Amino acid sequence: MKEALIQKEVLILDGLCAGFPARRGEVRVLDHVSLSVPKGKITGLVGESGCGKSMTARAVMNLIRHPGRVTGGRILLEGRDLLSMRKKERRMLQGREMAMIFQDPMSSLNPVMKVGKQVDEAVLVHEHVTHAEAKRRTLEMLEAAGVPDPERRYHSYPHQLSGGLRQRIMIAMAMVCRPKLLIADEPTTALDVTVEAQILDLMKEMSAKGTAVLLISHNLGAIARVCDDVSVMYAGKIVEQADICTLFDRPRHPYTRGLLSAVSSLRDGSEVLSVIPGHVPNLARLPAGCSFSPRCSCRGKECMEKTPEMREISPGHRIRCLWEEPGKKPGEKELETEGLAAE
Ligand SMILES: Nc1ncnc2c1ncn2[C@@H]1O[C@H](COP(=O)(O)OP(=O)(O)OP(=O)(O)O)[C@@H](O)[C@H]1O
Ligand SMILES: [Mg+2]
Repeated sequence: MKEALIQKEVLILDGLCAGFPARRGEVRVLDHVSLSVPKGKITGLVGESGCGKSMTARAVMNLIRHPGRVTGGRILLEGRDLLSMRKKERRMLQGREMAMIFQDPMSSLNPVMKVGKQVDEAVLVHEHVTHAEAKRRTLEMLEAAGVPDPERRYHSYPHQLSGGLRQRIMIAMAMVCRPKLLIADEPTTALDVTVEAQILDLMKEMSAKGTAVLLISHNLGAIARVCDDVSVMYAGKIVEQADICTLFDRPRHPYTRGLLSAVSSLRDGSEVLSVIPGHVPNLARLPAGCSFSPRCSCRGKECMEKTPEMREISPGHRIRCLWEEPGKKPGEKELETEGLAAE
């Protein structure tokens, strides 16, 4: 049974902690983050700026910048613990089985090398194939990533391409070795809405072919469009986890509710930039009790004293909140969020 679970879950983060050294001890930027990314599904990770989304991705890819480091927990790729394996073994596994795309493709593409050659390199580094075979694979992948006229684009330099095309090249590069896991960190932030929709559709196709995708975004619209499951993060902790319909129809954590009502205000056309009062706390000086309590309209005295643990309120739906009826004061009506997931 456990075997079967591990097979289905390509990536499991189990109590992952990470931090940076500070004058007094350490600033913890990931605090017992647990989530899983199953094969053939898109798992969303959402939260305001600075909550730890990119740190989570970087921890998995072993890309946390010095002096930051993972300080605890486990990262399992198909059941293999990445943190306890030898560096060389982890590097090999990472190149072959995991890939990541970043928000700004320009920072990851080599400006003085033809984009086709860069995708070729990705194949040549990990597989023993001829240059001709690598090029064939590249052209096939550029086509699959929706790059028009791949033969011509193969010879372009990054600056000759639009932002959307550069992101497609990055996706082609990430996918050309058919990784089991794709981590996409804000892959559509720099793009206009039409291109964003195309890139998201492409992710959906990739996941339908079996890739496990972790999609990081602060854009709930993008998350609603393609994700199967979502984890909501606040100040380095996961605060709510559910499948997409449950999260959008029945959000329970006051933070998730705040994020969702911000989206519905924007959809109404009312110029509301943030309907959650206050801002993300400084991780070096977190408030006592629940980290969200200073901004939470539902907080009680206990919330400022006791740190809530994650608990399951229905199968697959977990929240980190002390309220018995989280996000709902006695007598308060349910927030109107239904229908968002469908759009
Ligand atoms: N080098 C560093 N030293 C200390 N703290 C850092 C360092 N790099 C990142 N952090 C802290 O780690 C926290 C998480 O950052 P992270 O980049 O993961 O946020 P994010 O959720 O990806 O935000 P965004 O939506 O803006 O990309 C932030 O509070 C940030 O201040
Ligand atoms: Mg980020």
